[in-house]
Amino acid sequence: MRLVSTLRTPAVIVQRPVVARNLTRMADRAQARGLALTPHIKTHKNSGLARWQVESGAAGIMVSKLGEAAAMLAGGLPHQFIGYPLIGPQQEARLAALVAQGLKPRVAVDSEEGVVLVEHVSAGTGVTIPVMVEVDTGFHRCGLEDVDAVRRLAEFARTRGIPVQGITCFGGHISHRSDPAEIIRLVQAESEILARMRDSLERAGFADLVVSEGGTVPAGYLDAVTAATEIRPGTYIFNDVAIVKAGAATWDDCAAQVLAEVVSTPAATRAVIDAGSKTLAGDGPIDESFGYIVERPDLKIERISEEHGVVVRRDGGPTGLKVGDRVHVVPNHVCTMINLHDQVVLADGDTIVGTLAIEARGTVR
Ligand SMILES: Cc1ncc(COP(=O)(O)O)c(C=O)c1O
Repeated sequence: MRLVSTLRTPAVIVQRPVVARNLTRMADRAQARGLALTPHIKTHKNSGLARWQVESGAAGIMVSKLGEAAAMLAGGLPHQFIGYPLIGPQQEARLAALVAQGLKPRVAVDSEEGVVLVEHVSAGTGVTIPVMVEVDTGFHRCGLEDVDAVRRLAEFARTRGIPVQGITCFGGHISHRSDPAEIIRLVQAESEILARMRDSLERAGFADLVVSEGGTVPAGYLDAVTAATEIRPGTYIFNDVAIVKAGAATWDDCAAQVLAEVVSTPAATRAVIDAGSKTLAGDGPIDESFGYIVERPDLKIERISEEHGVVVRRDGGPTGLKVGDRVHVVPNHVCTMINLHDQVVLADGDTIVGTLAIEARGTVR
């Protein structure tokens, strides 16, 4: 039996019982409210975990890039919501090839170019591909903000024979907040925008619309989610510092942690661990730290370089750490952390139960 405590560091450890609890809780929550659950797999990029999500109640999965779509299709997951805008002849050819291999996608669009791409692929493959019109609920990334522009794009799709399955949004402006009252207010505002968009499409003759909302933080405040028929959390499978700070999970729910070792204690007030931006990712700092040190919340990772994390005590006192000590670090942003690793260790407490290949790691195309 191999033990986590004997691993070489740094290593990413995923606690299987915590994943199981996170998946069941979200599936139960969605089911209790009659919401379809379509998890975003960009958090873990592993088809085994995606299949586990489907087996535990998800209706399908969401991916961003076609590289993720290919990896998940190869892993036996044909039903995918492609959330990233697909533009241009290369993406068109790639999508067509995946559809020919059995992919059953629906595709987010916020432009006529996006609709035309879907039209071409549908015509070329003989497979009907529905679109979801992306709307902007305040994040101001992709998505149309104007209700008439949303209707016009949906009507454009209809005239080209492309089914409009619904509307979709990602409220990223809600994700990095820590005040529950403010989060609830923003989730409610998002619901109102979605309802207005849906009503306008219904008046234009579109029926049975899916109203799709993304994000682990809104999914943690489902009382305020009043217009969605589908939720697409991603981070919830592992959780991270940002999700805990937003009140949508606890430290005990953080399934993916970096096991790191103290490699230097050049001063009593400073220790260095073997995890920097190439292990933890560079997101943050949050609470003045590049990760949460599970065993020692009184410490913070004040600075990171590529392979070093500089640890100090929050009150400036001696760290008490010795060379060779080991700590577990919850990353600030688990999705970018996972994408740095070829594989992670699956564990049940200190017992290693397997490894997970991050199959879609680095698929930015
Ligand atoms: C379009 C879309 N949907 C869903 C999600 C999942 O959100 P989260 O990681 O907060 O769970 C994301 C995250 O970036 C996203 O971009």
